[in-house]
Amino acid sequence: MTSAPTEMALTNARVATCDPRVAGDYGLMPGLHAITARSGIITSVMPMGSFVAPAGCMVTDLGGKLITPGLIDCHTHLVFGGDRAAEWEMRLKGKSYAEIAQAGGGILSTVRATRACNEEQLFEAALGRLRLLARDGVTCVEVKSGYGLSLDEELKILRVIKRLARAGVTDISATLLAAHTIPPEYKSEPDTYVTLICEKMIPQVAQEGLAEAVDVFCEPIAFSLAQCERIFKAAERHGLAIKAHAEQLSHTGCAKRAAELGAWSVDHIEHLAAADIPAIKAAGTVGVLLPGAFYALREKQRPPIEALRQAGVPLAVATDCNPGTSPFTSIRMMLNLAAVLFSLTPAEAIAAVTAGAARALGRIAQTGTITVGKEATVCVWEVQEPAALVTDLSSDPLHRVFIRGEERHA
Ligand code: NIG
Ligand code: FE
Repeated sequence: MTSAPTEMALTNARVATCDPRVAGDYGLMPGLHAITARSGIITSVMPMGSFVAPAGCMVTDLGGKLITPGLIDCHTHLVFGGDRAAEWEMRLKGKSYAEIAQAGGGILSTVRATRACNEEQLFEAALGRLRLLARDGVTCVEVKSGYGLSLDEELKILRVIKRLARAGVTDISATLLAAHTIPPEYKSEPDTYVTLICEKMIPQVAQEGLAEAVDVFCEPIAFSLAQCERIFKAAERHGLAIKAHAEQLSHTGCAKRAAELGAWSVDHIEHLAAADIPAIKAAGTVGVLLPGAFYALREKQRPPIEALRQAGVPLAVATDCNPGTSPFTSIRMMLNLAAVLFSLTPAEAIAAVTAGAARALGRIAQTGTITVGKEATVCVWEVQEPAALVTDLSSDPLHRVFIRGEERHA
């Protein structure tokens, strides 16, 4: 990145604020506007007719191009070793994800491959994936641990995530997902592993500032609702936010319970029940849709989109980048899948990777919309219509990216 000019302005732009307070799809401002920023924070969004460059201001004329907030990928498992091509072949021949997991494959096969890697190897591989995400206009990425499943191995992954944050390609939000699956060492005593998570991992991770949130995988093939509740309460005691892989393969009641405990987000939610939705709405919890995993697992049951829409639950869309169920690094592909598979409108899909995703990471006060007082983190696109970001994957329309006013050249 080049260093941030103290005063900067992006002029002659069509501005899709993604701010729901701006009427109309995409929060699109009418005509051409200028965005000004000081020290990386937006100071004004004004019609070009009113714009006068302040002295010393670095002005970039965008010639009518479209500006959106930087895109946010709020659910990834970016740090892992190996691949799962052989399991993909098994699935394509008819074995289910759950069958493979129960036979010791699935998440556990990636745990074996990840434990075999050192920090340098994991960092290089994850950095490559992060750069691919960035190519699509992603400026902030949530990254989970979860392929270590012991104190030392989870800390190793979280240290790699910290290095990714320092690499400066995107902002990073780190999440502890020690409750991804039961490690082989604790197969016969899963509650003892939950105790380890609650009494050792969460306190140490919180104390070292290695994660902002704690995630769980609540499913019969992973952790029970009672075990997840213990983990949520430990996270709360240590000042960490909570979120959940909930109602992905079956209904467990986890999404509702997580929301009642103040979760930032409940993710997947294909099997969410209508009766769960009021609690999610009341808590302001975000429903995170992961159409890549839905597509790759050839799931049949879609999340209850229309009921969520009617209830006004904020939605996000993310890649869920992981080797097993969603080996994809394109947020624009996810926008397209969310539209085609889940019937999101293009405007809903864009809101889901900006304002919705910022809310899912507890960052809506700082980012996710183009609003005075928020960070000047934006993408400049060469598209006629904002909808093309969702509907047209045949081109590479990203023109420039600014993070807190600094241009990113990565
Ligand atoms: O979000 N559901 C659990 N976790 C991942 C899959 C991880 C894996 O299969 O390695 C998901 O789909
Ligand atoms: Fe996931």
